[in-house]
Amino acid sequence: MLDEVNRLIEAAGADIGSAADSRQLEELRVRYLGRKSQLRALMSRIGTLPPEERPAAGAATGKAQQVIQTALEERQAALEQESESRGMDVTLPGRRRGCGKRHLLTSLSWELVDIFRGMGFDVASGPEVEDEYHNFDALNTPPDHPARDLQDTFYLRDGMLLRTQTSTVQIRVMAHTAPPVRVVAPGRCYRKESVDATHHFAFHQLEGLYVDRGVSLADLKGTIQMMGRQLLGEQTRVRFRPHFFPFTEPSVEYDFSCSLCQGPDPSCRVCKGTGWIEVAGAGMVDPAVFEAVGYDPEVYTGFAFGMGLERVAMIRYGIDDIRLFLDNDLRFNRQF
Ligand code: PHE
Repeated sequence: MLDEVNRLIEAAGADIGSAADSRQLEELRVRYLGRKSQLRALMSRIGTLPPEERPAAGAATGKAQQVIQTALEERQAALEQESESRGMDVTLPGRRRGCGKRHLLTSLSWELVDIFRGMGFDVASGPEVEDEYHNFDALNTPPDHPARDLQDTFYLRDGMLLRTQTSTVQIRVMAHTAPPVRVVAPGRCYRKESVDATHHFAFHQLEGLYVDRGVSLADLKGTIQMMGRQLLGEQTRVRFRPHFFPFTEPSVEYDFSCSLCQGPDPSCRVCKGTGWIEVAGAGMVDPAVFEAVGYDPEVYTGFAFGMGLERVAMIRYGIDDIRLFLDNDLRFNRQF
């Protein structure tokens, strides 16, 4: 019987070694280890042997089973490796990996930061989860001001809220820095708006603040003018319209001349025929704000401005729906 087992191992080894693919290997596994295999037949014959021969026969058949099993596995691994190296076609084009890029709003905010760096501004930032002090109180916005209404602001627990404007960063910067200060702060803001083509509950602003001795409205206008030219072209003009913000006095809204039609063109879809595009709000920092942060309003003056980045991007690229910015549709994102 031991001879038979040895012959069996030899035959199996030879067959397995020359198996050409895994289908053949599977046939060999059935032939040599399956229920109807010769090995199984030998095993079931052990009981008929004289008792003293049984242990050796049992050991030999058990070992044979192991040896054949190992040979099958090794051959399988070798076949896989062979097919991997044989199966590689070096003439095929490589797999293209998608390449990430900056979101339009990110690159626009970097571009603006760059413009203001050129005018000597630093970059500052603040948290999106704010308290009422930084979002309202210190910005001279009293408790009964409509902007503080539940309708307009997302309130969180413990008097916290999602900031409604980047003007919060003005307060944070002034509270920690002695004048003069010159900073811009890009960031995301939230307001309880119903979403439509021109409103979104999440949007981005860029805030600017310049405080020193003798800063005037003319400096504000010059700065905005400079930004407009760099952003939309040399021919861009700026106009101020009177407005109100609790934290600036006087306050203005500023417009850029239309970059598309360069003047009143009744059919212009960007400026709707007016020749001007409303960009954002600005003004001279209200003395009450200086008092809140411990600046002496008798010594220092300053200007602040804010603008919606989506708005600027919509003007610049003729985008007609603010929802596109946060939809994350790659067909939109890839265009910029
Ligand atoms: N924070 C104002 C807004 O969100 C814009 C603004 C900023 C106005 C700075 C004046 C000065 O509408």
